[in-house]
Order: sequence, then C-alpha cells, then structure tokens
Amino acid sequence: MANSFQILPSILAADHGRFVEEAQTVDIPEIEYLHIDVMDGHFVPNITFGPQVVASLKKHTRFRLDVHLMIENVDRYTPAFAEAGADIITIHQEAGPHLHRSLALIRDCRARAGVALNPATPLESIRWVLDAVDLVLIMSVNPGFGGQKFIPAALQKIAELRAIKEREKLSFIIEVDGGVDAKTAPQVWSAGAEFLVAGSAVFGKTDRPGAAREIIAAVERAQQRGQSRLV
Ligand code: DX5
Ligand code: ZN
Repeated sequence: MANSFQILPSILAADHGRFVEEAQTVDIPEIEYLHIDVMDGHFVPNITFGPQVVASLKKHTRFRLDVHLMIENVDRYTPAFAEAGADIITIHQEAGPHLHRSLALIRDCRARAGVALNPATPLESIRWVLDAVDLVLIMSVNPGFGGQKFIPAALQKIAELRAIKEREKLSFIIEVDGGVDAKTAPQVWSAGAEFLVAGSAVFGKTDRPGAAREIIAAVERAQQRGQSRLV
C-alpha cells in the first residue's frame, strides 16, 4: 500500500538493565516490530549486546524483531542472531567485502535480509544486490549513538531509492534510522520511507505509547493534508 508506514521503537534508548520490561511499555497495537541495535566497538565506536538479548526479547515479548547489526565479521554472527529469533537481520554495506554472500547467508538462515547505508555511502553501492534484499535501511545519522540530529540529505536519498523501487517494481522495504521524531517523520514518510525507527523520540519519553502515537499522528496529518509522497 503506497501510504503504509510504521514506527519501530529502538531499544538502544531504553534502560539496558531492563530490556524486556522496557519493551513491554510499547506494547500497543500500532507497534509490530522492535528495532534492536547491535554494536561491536569496531564497526562503530560503541558496544551494546549480542544474541542473548535478542533471544530474551523473542521469548518474553510478542514483537517481531528488526535486528540492525553495526558489526564487522557479520557472517560469523548471522546464524546466532537468526537462531535467537531475529525476523529481519540488517547488515551494513560498509562492514565487509562480500555483501552479496552475506545477504544470501541471512536468507539461508531463514531471516529477512536487510542492507544499511551510512550517510556518506551512495545508493549506487547496492545497485547489484537490490534483488537480494528484503529491506534497505537509510541511515539519517552516523551509526553508533542514539539522540543525534537528523541529517537532511537522507531525504533525497530515500526519494531516489523509492524511485528505483517503483521503476524496477522491487518489493524491498525502505527503512530510515536516526533522528526520527514527530517533526522529521512526516518528511521521511513523504520522501518514501515505510519503516521509521525512533529511539529517543519514544524511549526517551515517560509516556512511550503517547510518544509513538504522536509520531504516527504527525505522519497521518501530513497524509490528510494531501501531502503526497515525493515519488
Ligand atoms: C544509531 C542506531 C539507531 C538509534 C536511533 O546508530 O542505529 O537505531 O537507536 O536513535 P534516535 O532515534 O535517538 O536517533
Ligand atoms: Zn539502528
């Protein structure tokens, strides 16, 4: 559906001592997926957690799990994250030399395969793997930390990706991650994004359902104003 979108709360911005309880605070019908940021201290200058946290969230919550790997040596860890219950595993284009092989491994492990692009990485770099992905993640901040400012150049990148998707009748999901809030969400939706990751704009607030609904309402207002997608 051309207008469809959803908000994916990122647990990076939650209390890391209580992931399951934190996830349950966003257990509202509008939320289908949790976004889970895995960082290794090499690919990005921050460290989070491994497959055990994914397995706990799978076991104790009802959410589908969108796992964003900001790590090197992805092939070594893909089977463990799939086994832990990741529904989508997204790897970075910049993280290794054999992107096509790494994406194929994710599908072999029965997860959906995503590829993420840092702000400086061109769309052209994934041109020849677009038929091997289920999701493309456009980073709208430099990966590693929550709470950063949205980089506006991401909007044109999303619009160009959406144009490629329509032109070539491809079915991958377009996701955007970083600095998404009630102000930027209508803009990224309008540019063509479908999965909108929001970390601090949801888990940084006391009323998490209210915060998620505020972002959803902001996009719906843009839709009602007749603000169409750019493409
Ligand atoms: C950044 C992570 C994001 C992060 C977004 O490296 O990939 O998923 O949680 O956080 P906010 O929404 O606060 O920018
Ligand atoms: Zn992320």
